[in-house]
Amino acid sequence: MPVSPKVVLRKNLGRALRQGHPWVFRDALAEVPTIPSGTMVAVTGRDGRPLAYGYWDCTGPIAVRVLDLQPVRDGRMLACARLRQALTKRLLRLDRDKTNAFRWVHGEGDGLPGIHVDLYDQVAVVRFDGAGARAFYHNLADMLAECSAPLRLLRVVDREQRDGDLGEIEVRENGIRFIVDLGRGQKGGLFLDQRENRQTVAGHAAGKSLLNLYGYTGGFSLYAAAAGATQTDTVDIAKPALATARRNFQLNRLALQDAGFHAADALAFLEQAARRTQRWDVVVSDPPSFAPSRRALPAARRAYYQLHRMAAAVVTPGGRLCAASCSSHFPRDEFLTSVERGAAAAGRRFRLESVTGAGFDHPALPAFPEGDYLKFAIGRVD
Ligand SMILES: C[S@@+](CC[C@H](N)C(=O)[O-])C[C@H]1O[C@@H](n2cnc3c(N)ncnc32)[C@H](O)[C@@H]1O
Repeated sequence: MPVSPKVVLRKNLGRALRQGHPWVFRDALAEVPTIPSGTMVAVTGRDGRPLAYGYWDCTGPIAVRVLDLQPVRDGRMLACARLRQALTKRLLRLDRDKTNAFRWVHGEGDGLPGIHVDLYDQVAVVRFDGAGARAFYHNLADMLAECSAPLRLLRVVDREQRDGDLGEIEVRENGIRFIVDLGRGQKGGLFLDQRENRQTVAGHAAGKSLLNLYGYTGGFSLYAAAAGATQTDTVDIAKPALATARRNFQLNRLALQDAGFHAADALAFLEQAARRTQRWDVVVSDPPSFAPSRRALPAARRAYYQLHRMAAAVVTPGGRLCAASCSSHFPRDEFLTSVERGAAAAGRRFRLESVTGAGFDHPALPAFPEGDYLKFAIGRVD
């Protein structure tokens, strides 16, 4: 077995590593070696004893992404075994006749730190988190092809190197059909992490009106309309996403006369709706991350609070507010407080019914709270 270069810790991270935290930040190292990105390294304490094994990244704040606590004989073999394991877990739980778009690999949560792989029917869309990941998994496309049975994978697309002309494909999620623009779509295509939450919201939608704020290509609205909602309104600032939302309604043979598509800033839309005293029985709020970094948190707190206040104000009394935050920097407790206080500031009372996160194909590690980013709260608004 080749001997891995050692990187020595300055900080005492032994416990965190043993518990499964997969990152070693550069500022935790005693000294920074000169080795190429992607090299397998042994992370040791000051006494030289190895604590964990992972790959090196020359750039960025995360210097080592941990693969295992035991020496790794063959990085490719380990990656292939974990790719297969991740796929098996998904295929055991998903009915592929109904759902053929899902996350195959959720990086650290699947023991494959630094990569995300989303599957859209026979196309895999991959994302590398930094130069280390790109170098370590340099043959990822081949590995995916090798480990993809029984998917019949046709193509692997690198999210950073996409061009706009990749074209559209059609996929299914819980039987709902979606057009996915592989070249131009946000997040590589769909926000797959909300699949289970879309299904839950559908359970509240029969006979109800639904407002879908930050609605992208119509996900929550499509599920609601298919479940028998009387009216859906989808709001998004991105006109191409809304145009696709409208086409998705047609694709699913859902009546367009009961579906509004509003190209607008969500807060501006809410302000106008409040002025007109419009109300919806179910209001979904799924904004982009307001806190992409820790530094952005104070401004993000204010933005979430304002959004929750304005969204609660347009819920029919006794209706539901379904609020999401996809920022890992905004802790769950603070998020729930923001929803409750926002509603209170609108003169309403939010009674929490459930809090969930991303779907099972986006697994989070208990020792790695940074990976637990999505919060989705549903509550009754009186
Ligand atoms: C997390 S995604 C929503 C995903 C969607 N709920 C789904 O199920 O597919 C956030 C969306 O917010 C939209 N967006 C960003 N800023 C916005 C704004 N100020 N007002 C309205 N929509 C906005 C983006 O275009 C994007 O589609």
